[in-house]
Amino acid sequence: MENSIPDKKRSSKIKNGADSAQSPATQAHPGKRSAPVNGPNNGGATIGVADVDKLVADALARIAAAGTPEQLEKTRLNLIGRKGVLPLALRAIKDRSAEDKRRLGPALNQARTTVEAAVRQRALNLSRSVFESLVDDEAIDVTEPLPRTALGHIHPTEHVRREVEDIFRSMGFEVVRGQEIDDEENNFDLLNIPASHPARDLWDTFWLKKPEAFKESSVAAAKNRLLLRTHTSNMQVRVMRDRTPPLRIVNIGRVYRYESTDKTHETTFNQIEGFIVDESTTLGDLRGTLHTLFETIFGQKLVTRLRPSYFPFTEPSVELDMSCTFCKGKGCAVCKNTGWLEIGGAGMIHPNVLKNGGLNPNKFQGFAFGMGLERITMFKYGIDDIRWLLSADLRFLEQF
Ligand code: DAH
Repeated sequence: MENSIPDKKRSSKIKNGADSAQSPATQAHPGKRSAPVNGPNNGGATIGVADVDKLVADALARIAAAGTPEQLEKTRLNLIGRKGVLPLALRAIKDRSAEDKRRLGPALNQARTTVEAAVRQRALNLSRSVFESLVDDEAIDVTEPLPRTALGHIHPTEHVRREVEDIFRSMGFEVVRGQEIDDEENNFDLLNIPASHPARDLWDTFWLKKPEAFKESSVAAAKNRLLLRTHTSNMQVRVMRDRTPPLRIVNIGRVYRYESTDKTHETTFNQIEGFIVDESTTLGDLRGTLHTLFETIFGQKLVTRLRPSYFPFTEPSVELDMSCTFCKGKGCAVCKNTGWLEIGGAGMIHPNVLKNGGLNPNKFQGFAFGMGLERITMFKYGIDDIRWLLSADLRFLEQF
């Protein structure tokens, strides 16, 4: 039994690790167990070198177990913060014997260095894994096909309008715009179509009531009725009055006719009006200009021809035809087996119109032409019914 105490001491030494045998701390306080190494306030009073090893092992395990930067910070404070286990243990050795100080000092300092390095490394790994999980969770796969967003696109008529304007600009024409609500004078009278003229019947018109506010004004008194313009020729005289020749003008815009609709007629459509005024223009220039326009739009060699016709504002007047773009002039359903497509009206500007524009017909002359933008669009894209173009039907529009 006498041996039982030393035996107990021995076994506790063994439990504390091989170095405990040499630990002055353990020897100084036989039978007393080492203070817990992971409590912040163990005081370090009885710590031995073996305890330092255990403390380091325990600290490393806790550092490794910290799963978030926040947990790691807590652990760090607990281990090496101002009141942490290691600093307290270091402070405590000032009361120890010189021998203890010599042995424990370097061991604890080494322990602190090891723990600090481990904390730094763990912090790095944690921030890396935070970053990696961000990369995993929030990465965008730029190759992944997205659901299609419905993007709009230009209407075929608008597409051809822009093309026609560009071609005219390239030939030195200026693009003007005119009002869609106009007066009788500019739409008819000044274009040599007086009220009594039977040709006025050709342009079945949407007449507009004058607003109350106009009743007393000179506009009302002039008996100049308002209408939705029936053609884009309504800008001719205005431009002549505003500018001095030479003039090269093109005016594309919406016009209105009070008539029933069918495959080739709409109440609302677009016209391309153009004219030149200078001192030496001929019908040959007219033909050359329109020939160039159509070959460019249709991207193929074409034959054009002029046929005699009648318009009150031109003299002589012609119709312009081009060889059928579908059968190349051989004859097909589109050209009704004639080999020709009618494209528009034209002629040399009537002297009365020039006079109305304030120009001397003995000095100036020019050609004018007018054609339907939708008709050209239909030929270009092979559309068989003009009503599709205003239908806003996506089954139709999405084909372009
Ligand atoms: N304004 C005519 C129409 O609406 C088209 C036209 C024909 C215009 C001959 C012209 C022209 O300038 O010279 O049918």
